[in-house]
Amino acid sequence: MRTPRTTIRRKLILAIMLTSTTALALAGTALTIHEVTSLRALLARELATRAAILAANSTAALAFQNPEDASQVLAGLRTDPSIVAAALYDARGGVFATYPMGASAPLVPAAAGAMGNRLERASLLVSRPVMEGNRRLGSLFLRSDLRALDERVRAQVMAILVAVLGSMGVALALSAWLQGGIAQPVRILAETAKAVLDRKDYSVRARAVSDDELGVLAEGFNDMLAEIQRRDAELEQRVADRTAALEASNKELEAFSYSVSHDLRAPLRAIDGFSKALLEDCGDKLDQVGTKHLDRVRTATRQMGQLIDDLLNLARISRAELRRERFDLGAVGKEIAAELKRAQPEREGVQFVIAEGMTVVADTQLLRVVLDNLLRNAWKFTAKHPTARIELGQHRDNGHRVFFVTDDGAGFDMAHANLLFAPFQRLHRQSDFEGTGVGLATVQRIIHRHGGQLWADGAVERGASFSFTLSEVKS
Ligand SMILES: Nc1ncnc2c1ncn2[C@@H]1O[C@H](COP(=O)(O)OP(=O)(O)O)[C@@H](O)[C@H]1O
Ligand SMILES: [Mg+2]
Repeated sequence: MRTPRTTIRRKLILAIMLTSTTALALAGTALTIHEVTSLRALLARELATRAAILAANSTAALAFQNPEDASQVLAGLRTDPSIVAAALYDARGGVFATYPMGASAPLVPAAAGAMGNRLERASLLVSRPVMEGNRRLGSLFLRSDLRALDERVRAQVMAILVAVLGSMGVALALSAWLQGGIAQPVRILAETAKAVLDRKDYSVRARAVSDDELGVLAEGFNDMLAEIQRRDAELEQRVADRTAALEASNKELEAFSYSVSHDLRAPLRAIDGFSKALLEDCGDKLDQVGTKHLDRVRTATRQMGQLIDDLLNLARISRAELRRERFDLGAVGKEIAAELKRAQPEREGVQFVIAEGMTVVADTQLLRVVLDNLLRNAWKFTAKHPTARIELGQHRDNGHRVFFVTDDGAGFDMAHANLLFAPFQRLHRQSDFEGTGVGLATVQRIIHRHGGQLWADGAVERGASFSFTLSEVKS
């Protein structure tokens, strides 16, 4: 199981933080914009009121052309530090009085301009007419400094910033605490799954730590584990039952074939013994045909005896315990070759080629049976050729050692090669080559018991080659 690159804990904290910070920042910005616009509007209203009062107070000074009075009226603005300059203009638009005294452009315009409110960089400018009834006496100009307002806005933005940072801290602490309720159960679940996989132990259970969907998930997970455990146990039991049944029936079958073969021997011995006695004791009373019949009885008896021996051998091999030891396969091959030559010294044309240094770690007795069968077959199926070459050797194939017994005898048709290793299957007629068809089945069983493979190659009248491997036990 792979380890996660990030944690749910980290993701949750990040999500909570992002949400809360974004919300705070948006709210703060909206608040600031609203504050700035409403403050400006308020200031504009205040200034308009002040201008209206000032204009009303200045009518007498303008009407009587008294600049000192006008300056006096304007000097009253001292009480408001946000108003930095003011000017009164006469009906022709010329400067009549200024505040502070003697102020000139650019602080105050040199001549009366358009009426109304105007923003100019950090100042709010107000111009309005001074009327007496319907008569226009002149105009009033006020310059209010907006820096105080900016100051207020800056202080406000700072306050909002501090609030955002503070709430981020609070959100961080809160989210760390909140995520525990989600990340903790998930972490426990993930750890349990990993433990199950790593140890292949399905008895592990996830601790239920929450009563929400995660709790349900943990419960479901536990139920699944319990189900797997139950099925495992059931399967194991079933396999054990089947194995026991199979073993029992195997034993029964082996015992049956063993006793059948064994019991067949006794009557066979009687047939053989009595036909021999008949030949010896009453041979003179039998004519040529009788003697020939009796010969065939004896041959058949001998064949059946061989068959019984082979079957008993096959049964024995399945049961015998493997006793591996180190020995030279070639040495065993040479002994068998010598035996064959001794039994039929007249077959001088047969040449055995047996490789040196074929050390293996295997059951000596069983491997002797293998070589005996293969070499004996090679010997038998080359009998109709005046000369023959039989080779026992080894070569490497894909790093595996392959042993082989090759001859240049009668061979066989590869189309039927798959039949060779089944008991009683023969590719040659009894009249051509005698046999029971049990040998290669026995060989295959021994090779399989050694964890190896056995296969055959051949062509009619071009010889045959039998190859086998043994599971490599370090020799
Ligand atoms: N060296 C060989 N050359 C040709 N055919 C062979 C050879 N070895 C085995 N066979 C074929 O495989 C059959 C089965 O062999 P085996 O089980 O040893 O039985 P058997 O030797 O009693 O006939 C043989 O009858 C024969 O047809
Ligand atoms: Mg044979």
